[in-house]
Amino acid sequence: MSQDLWTAVDDHFDRALVPSDPVLDAALEATDEAGLPAIGVAPNQGKLLGFLARMQGARRILEVGTLGGYSTIWLARALPADGRLTTLEVDPTHADVARGNIERAGLGDVVDVILGPAVETLPKLAAEGHGPFDLVFIDADKANNAEYFAWAVRLSRPGTLIIVDNVVRGGAVVDAGNDDPGTLGVHRLVEAVQAEPRVSALALQTVGRKGYDGFVMARVNEG
Ligand code: SAH
Ligand code: DHB
Ligand code: MG
Repeated sequence: MSQDLWTAVDDHFDRALVPSDPVLDAALEATDEAGLPAIGVAPNQGKLLGFLARMQGARRILEVGTLGGYSTIWLARALPADGRLTTLEVDPTHADVARGNIERAGLGDVVDVILGPAVETLPKLAAEGHGPFDLVFIDADKANNAEYFAWAVRLSRPGTLIIVDNVVRGGAVVDAGNDDPGTLGVHRLVEAVQAEPRVSALALQTVGRKGYDGFVMARVNEG
């Protein structure tokens, strides 16, 4: 089993099932041209996020970590006409690139890109009365995952789905000696989820063009 094989299999299915889309292609191209890293979700993962948003009947979506707005566009496209997506980004260049991509996707009136460290912009959102969000996608600096999860729960309603990207990290998560801040951030996240009685959660491993990784999914309990 190898990266080449995982990429070939993603290519195989994406060719048939996740056809190329000029708006998403343009967003990836502009993101690359601006020198941003190619670390957004894969096309099939973006489509999965869109499916989950639709299954949620999501009208309010929160994203932590925008980059060039690729996952943002997949999620925002899943919203109904009166839906809104708020996405938080610390890097002004990333936020600018994302705003351009989102505008060109025809989603400028649907998406708010909020600039600043998410540990500061999340409390502001709460203070301004934003939320509850129906779906939260956490995909920023992994060291702060536990804080972002806590804010996601605060800004949730019963039934909200919270998704956290990059929790497997090539298997580093089971290497007890790994002290990478991202890996430690995953451990802190899992402790926070485990200690939170208001959610039910799982982790799902994935392989594909982005390597060996996975998501934590937590659903806020009803009743
Ligand atoms: N969700 C995007 C990828 C996000 S990459 C996609 O799938 O298309 C992670 C992003 O989080 C980067 O743009 C990075 O600048 C941003 N980020 C890092 N630390 C942050 C912080 N403290 N607050 C908000 N955003 C942050
Ligand atoms: C990185 C960040 C991500 O969100 C991702 O999905 C893959 C890689 C990174 O920072 O390297
Ligand atoms: Mg990610």
